[in-house]
Amino acid sequence: MCGIIGYIGERKACNVLVDGLKRLEYRGYDSVGIVTEEDGKLYIKKGAGKIDELKEKLGLLQMPGKRGIGHTRWATHGIPNDINAHPHTDCTGKIAVVHNGIIENYIELKDKLLRKGHKFKSDTDTEIIAHLIEDALKDFNNFEDALRYALLRLKGSFALGIIYTHDREHLYFVRNESPLVLGIGHGEMFAASDIPAFLPYTNKAVFLDDGEYAVVTKDSFVVKDLKTGEVKEKKVHEINWTLEMAEKQGYEHFMLKEIHEQPKAVKEAIYGNLETIDEIAREIANYEKIYIVAMGTSYHAALVGKYIFQRLVKKVPVVEDASEFRYEFEDLIDKDTLVIAITQSGETADTLAAIKLAKKKNAKVLSIVNVVGSMATRLSDLVLYTHAGPEIGVAATKTYTTQLTVISMLAIALAKYLNTADREYLQKIEAELYDMPKYIEAALGYENKIKNLAERLKEKRDFFYIGRGINLATALEGALKLKEISYIHAEGLSAGELKHGPLALIEEGVPIVAIAPSGKTLEKMISNIQEAKARGALIISLGDSEELKKVSDILIKIPKVDEVLSPIVYIVPLQLLAYHLAVLRGNDPDKPRNLAKSVTVE
Ligand code: AGP
Repeated sequence: MCGIIGYIGERKACNVLVDGLKRLEYRGYDSVGIVTEEDGKLYIKKGAGKIDELKEKLGLLQMPGKRGIGHTRWATHGIPNDINAHPHTDCTGKIAVVHNGIIENYIELKDKLLRKGHKFKSDTDTEIIAHLIEDALKDFNNFEDALRYALLRLKGSFALGIIYTHDREHLYFVRNESPLVLGIGHGEMFAASDIPAFLPYTNKAVFLDDGEYAVVTKDSFVVKDLKTGEVKEKKVHEINWTLEMAEKQGYEHFMLKEIHEQPKAVKEAIYGNLETIDEIAREIANYEKIYIVAMGTSYHAALVGKYIFQRLVKKVPVVEDASEFRYEFEDLIDKDTLVIAITQSGETADTLAAIKLAKKKNAKVLSIVNVVGSMATRLSDLVLYTHAGPEIGVAATKTYTTQLTVISMLAIALAKYLNTADREYLQKIEAELYDMPKYIEAALGYENKIKNLAERLKEKRDFFYIGRGINLATALEGALKLKEISYIHAEGLSAGELKHGPLALIEEGVPIVAIAPSGKTLEKMISNIQEAKARGALIISLGDSEELKKVSDILIKIPKVDEVLSPIVYIVPLQLLAYHLAVLRGNDPDKPRNLAKSVTVE
């Protein structure tokens, strides 16, 4: 949902900004813009399109100055064109603003500003911010006071970078419900929507909280409360992500690299949580009322979590799409409620809203998060990290399998503590979980077979993914991967549901991807597959049993793992299938159309 970056130091600002924007491109990529300052003059270049196309065309690397801010856009207000691209300026052209988020009361504010004679160039909500500050400057001598006065008029979500010609030593950054992090260098400072943007220069980060702003010089930063102006103490975090982690390292796309990183990521998720998992399990062991909230792929991890909790902990959590949670469950949440929030970024607006509601109602909140220091981690009582490293591809892959790993560890630890499952069985699945990197490696070994399969399927228009029980989530996630990067229509369904309607859509050659590991539901899965095959469907099965071979047109044989852990392995071939179909159809899987990595607006 837009990426913003700022730099002040001794380097040529445009180089740092272009490099950083490239790393933030996963947040939005319909337009790009940069403003730098030299000798009290602002230099602005911006336009619709991706950064690689615009770098040469606009001469983004030929901009003077050692301080500046930049933006990569995912349009909300105003179509993606050159005029609506950020930065936006006031009437005098002395104040420039970049923005990630939505200003909800911008129409009302714009009307007032128009009545005062302000002239607007774009259709964006962002432009009003520059004009509001300009207006406030008439009443305040000091830029910072004018800035605060103007920003307190805004309703909505915003992370902002602000530059003013007359205030040559500073850059200003603001956070309210959209992510913003400062990068602390030696004699230089950075700010960005996400850490990878400044990772080549520093791994020291300061996370702004909602309602805070930072005044940054090349040698210092001070964070203050937007309402009171009071200085806030901030912790400098050392981030253990390396630059290599945020680079493609020879892979054609980040997504492919991240799919292949899964054995290592899952191992890190296991070892990164070994020491704390039992303690966290003890802290939450007595809660009977449990909700798991999340969006998208993380929601599918929540569904898997529900099944594991049922099987091992003998508790039935309610899984809810975070965007619905606060409208439906407010009256049901109290101090005896546990809310588990799953979010890769820790910045998804809907999930944060659900966490805030849970906190307001005095519930206990445990978050399962990938990004260290992100908002979800700061709002929650307890945090389990997925330790997947930075995920740049918009389609979640390694963060999903690590979420599944962590939730499995949690359920096993709870089951041991509460004595809700057979000891020997728990030991067996725990040992299998530790071996999970090996199983994923084996699943990755099918890549060539899957690539050939993708070649055969690339012209298909509709796909159906079917699963049962714990692997209904795998069907949903496989279908989500396919639609978001290959733009092929795909549906994930409970296999039992097929003959209650969707079977009417099956005709000769329609691919049905059946997720069918051995376990409670295999027999029924085979019947459902046969029903579809009898109507002409092309059956692509994923499983570990011989029976499956007889009913499938194509079988992807997966190493045998216990059913409760099977979602961690079975999703891997489906990620590869979606990836290769996307590439064969000429799409960029790292930057699917209309999507952004973190959805920071509701
Ligand atoms: C999945 O491939 C998507 N990137 C998306 O569904 C994502 O999982 C969702 O937006 C939630 O993001 P989060 O995990 O960062 O909260």
